[in-house]
Formats: sequence, structure tokens, C-alpha cells
Amino acid sequence: AKKVLFLSDFGIDDNIAILYAFFNKEIEIVGIVADYGNVSKQDALRNAAYLQRLTGRHDVPVFAGAELPLTGDPPEYVPEVHGVAGLGPIIPNIIVDDTLENFHGIQEIIEKNLDEIIIVNVGRLSSLAAAFILYPGTMKKVKDFYIMGGVFHEPGNVTPVAEANFFGDPYAANIVITQARAPIKIIPLNVTSGAIVTPALINELDVYYQSIGSKVGSIVKPMFDYYYKFYKQRNPELTGAPLHDVLTLWALLNEEKIVYRKVPVKIVVNRGEAFGQSIGDFRNTNSKAKFPVHQVAVSFHYPDFIKDFFITMKNS
Ligand code: BDR
Ligand code: CA
Repeated sequence: AKKVLFLSDFGIDDNIAILYAFFNKEIEIVGIVADYGNVSKQDALRNAAYLQRLTGRHDVPVFAGAELPLTGDPPEYVPEVHGVAGLGPIIPNIIVDDTLENFHGIQEIIEKNLDEIIIVNVGRLSSLAAAFILYPGTMKKVKDFYIMGGVFHEPGNVTPVAEANFFGDPYAANIVITQARAPIKIIPLNVTSGAIVTPALINELDVYYQSIGSKVGSIVKPMFDYYYKFYKQRNPELTGAPLHDVLTLWALLNEEKIVYRKVPVKIVVNRGEAFGQSIGDFRNTNSKAKFPVHQVAVSFHYPDFIKDFFITMKNS
């Protein structure tokens, strides 16, 4: 199985992605970093504990990540998309230690899984940037990076040109983009927006979960319905809701079903209309790249994604 250190901001698609990973035998989550983003760091930690309790996966260590962006701006959570606690209508009855400060533990996790560990980041990049700042030597030993973030040649979801994970902390995104030693894999919004899961599929899963009495499965439908309602209101033409963060995990198991372009990438860090925009140089020029070159996903095999998602989620 692929060893994954998962950094997440614990919104709805994040939570479904974590369940997807737990249900998938090809993925071994070796650590979870709970970051602010869709929700506060405290809520992220609580959701991590909630998912651990539901799944019984107390063996997976949880690390307290960032609670602020490097920009110094106050974080803006998005309850309208993910619910007040990041779980749609669910408020977990659980208390966590919000003084937890164990982030340095990720260094040990990476060192323990040398050259094998894959970092998947599906929230703001503040924690990951901090890791590059604090542990540059350790970060060189990471095998691969998969980042859900940015948008190329399509509208953003926070500003006309910027996507939430990059816009939430453009300074952090810039650190990651410039400090990664080898090309990282970026799964941007314009691609993840195609990872549409329909309410009909979720209903079918729910019927199955009910038939087997799956407690874990029982949270999927209420979370999804909340999330879908938001997307549907914003765009009535949608037939489902995009599970951005699930697609990002799927990407690491389905290399041959994703098309990447190797392009120079830059993050706009100047405050102004383009703050947080991701720019990819997709021109076919041979001119020497001025920006670091990364692998930017441009398309994926949708039918196989849906098929795998359905099969995997039934492993609850
Ligand atoms: C990203 O922002 C969050 O709302 C989602 O969890 C996803 O990681 C999409 O822009
Ligand atoms: Ca996320």
C-alpha cells in the first residue's frame, strides 16, 4: 500500500476522502494533519477525532497543524459549504485537546517512512509550507507530493481567478511551489470540478450502508446532501457535487488515468485582484522556464473514478 501523510482542512469532501482512504487497501494513512481552512483548527482536530472514533482507526496519529495563514490575515471559514463543524448538519459530541501542539511529530513520520512517503495536501498549504521552512532536509526525503489547489484557465471559486486552497494562503502555496525539490503533482479546481458524484449514487450507497448497519457509512449521505445543496444553489445545472479531495487521493492510485502537463507554475503573491492566482505557462515554447516546473493535471478518466469510488466506499 502507498504510505500517505494526509494534510486536510476537514470539510465535507475532505472527510469523505479520509473515509475513502481508510476503506482503500492500496492506501495506508500514516498520519493526518488537521489544519484550519474550511473550518477552524479546533474543528479540524475534532473531526479527526470523530472519524477516528467512528472507524476505530486510533492507530493513525493526528497532528495539530496551522491555525493561521502565513499572510497574517484572519482565516475565513466556509460553513455555507461544509457546515458549522465541517460535517454538514452533524455536530460531533466530542471534546478535543485544543492545546495540542505536536506538529513536529510529522518529521518523525517522514523519517520513519523514508523515500516511500507521499504527502497529500487537500487544504490550505500553511502547514506544508511550515514543514518546508522548519524541516528542509526531511522534506527532501518525501517521495511525492499531491496537492489539491489552484485553478488554470477557468474561474476560481473564491475570486474570479483564485481557488480556495491557494487563495487562503498564497504565501504558503508559493513556498511549496518554489521549495519542492522535484515536480509536484497539482490537481487543480478546473480538473476536480469534474469529479461529480450524484445524489443517486450516494443514495445507493446509503441504502447499502443501512442494509449492513454501517455506522461509518451513515454519515456520508447527510454530509453529501448538505454539500450538494450548496453547489446546486450556486449552479442549478449541476447534476451532483464535486469531491475535489477524493479525486486527489484517487490520482495517486491511478497514474495512468490522469493526464498531466509539465509546466512552469507561479503563484501570485502580490495583493490585488490576482492575489492567490495560479499561473501555468502552457505555451509550447522552449524558452528556459522562469518558474519551477510542476505536473499539472488537465484531465482524468471520469467513468473509472466513479466506478472506483463506489466500489471503495462499499468497503466500509
Ligand atoms: C478545495 O477547497 C475546499 O472547499 C475543498 O475541501 C477543496 O479542498 C476546493 O477549492
Ligand atoms: Ca479540503
